[in-house]
Amino acid sequence: MRVPVPSGAEISPVLRHPEMSENERHASTSTTESAPLEPPSVPVSEVLASLSRALDLTEGQPLGHSVRSCVIGMRLGREAGLDDDAMAELYYALLLKDAGCSSNAARIASLFGSDDQAVKPRMKVVDWDDRMALAVETWRNSGMHQSLGARMRHFLGVARQEGMTKDMIATRCERGADIARRLGFPAGTVEAIRSLDEHWNGKGYPEGKRGDAIPLMSRILNIAQTVEVFWGAEGPQATEAMLRERRGRWFDPELTDSALAVLHDSALWASVQSPEVESHVVSMEPHTTRLVDARGLDDIAQAYADIIDAKSPFTFRHSSQVAMYATAIGEQLGFDEPTLVRTRRAGLLHDIGKVGVSNRILDKNGPLDLDERAAIERHPLHTWEILKRVSAFQDFARQASTHHEKLDGTGYPWNLGADELDAPSRALVVADIYEALTATRPYRAGMPVEKALGILERDKGTRLDAAAVDALAHIVTRDDSDRAL
Ligand SMILES: [Fe+2]
Ligand SMILES: [Fe+2]
Repeated sequence: MRVPVPSGAEISPVLRHPEMSENERHASTSTTESAPLEPPSVPVSEVLASLSRALDLTEGQPLGHSVRSCVIGMRLGREAGLDDDAMAELYYALLLKDAGCSSNAARIASLFGSDDQAVKPRMKVVDWDDRMALAVETWRNSGMHQSLGARMRHFLGVARQEGMTKDMIATRCERGADIARRLGFPAGTVEAIRSLDEHWNGKGYPEGKRGDAIPLMSRILNIAQTVEVFWGAEGPQATEAMLRERRGRWFDPELTDSALAVLHDSALWASVQSPEVESHVVSMEPHTTRLVDARGLDDIAQAYADIIDAKSPFTFRHSSQVAMYATAIGEQLGFDEPTLVRTRRAGLLHDIGKVGVSNRILDKNGPLDLDERAAIERHPLHTWEILKRVSAFQDFARQASTHHEKLDGTGYPWNLGADELDAPSRALVVADIYEALTATRPYRAGMPVEKALGILERDKGTRLDAAAVDALAHIVTRDDSDRAL
């Protein structure tokens, strides 16, 4: 077993075996005669379906929530008589519905004093219209595992936040819609995401739209995601009871009747629960398969970098900046063009595994205990598990995931050594440390360049690659560095 998963570590089932094979451990990204870039185009469905796992992690949902919701939602779309174009819009909305979810993680963790991934799924299914149920659930989620006094403080803090739910949902919906728009998805997809938390009775968020004023696709998204969560957590009977109870309040009555009817379609539920559900969803892409080229992959990597960086106020623009420094180091060291492209994407996505770490820990103002440290040190494993599943990202998944490894074997999580870290990986390690030291954070100003370089210099040639450190020093101290970067 190569990976030191700490004892008692809670790691989601599909992430239980994150070790690299011998081949992967010794894989190298040549800097001179590297493999060509990915084939000209890959189905966007495949990329989005794989990356939706990162969104599931952020939401604290069991992995596969988004793709299972997609199967359910597409069936409801068909029952509602959507044409091919609308089905395509619905399909992308289902896969991207939680793209804005990282934007409220820090606030939820701070307000509730609990792990955001624990709070989010519970608060997502509570019946907001029922004030008693809302209060009980808020209490259950406030200051988890803390003293009674601390729990009460957090509970009252949440209760006093007028309009908090509305604000947080508005931010999430706006950001999600914006990401879909930036990626070039049609207006129907964008609008479906923006209004997905509106309720039929007008008591939803962010605008309190009522009835038919809510886009049909948003109504489908809402019912599909709620059914998926209830079915997975509590089974078909509880799902049926929930649908009957919320019909005409949360949900469109007609769509609710369709959902009640399909609850009894065993073939549908077999495909929802199949281990192959992700590839099934990829094959379900309606109309014409939308392909993504190299530029499109860069756009998707950038969009997910923004999702990662939105998770914490402490990592504002970190991913984009690391990508920039790593690419600049690569240029300085003479990496060829395909290696530079991969290095940039690796930089953008290296911390995607942080979506699986609670903001209570990521943003903690104070020393971390052993369990918290272990949770942080698992994030490269999550990065590996997420990226290696995306065929178009496989050629830089390893580089992205080894960004905390050190040449002397003291890094984490694999304790790789110098002979297992190639030049692109080494460049990314140096870029990541430099950005973390020099970036201005909400609680401190960025470290001056000379001081940060001094810290890198101390480990140069022992833990950090000398050529990469020298290249970075050259870049950030030359007169035209501002222009070059
Ligand atoms: Fe990291
Ligand atoms: Fe990082």
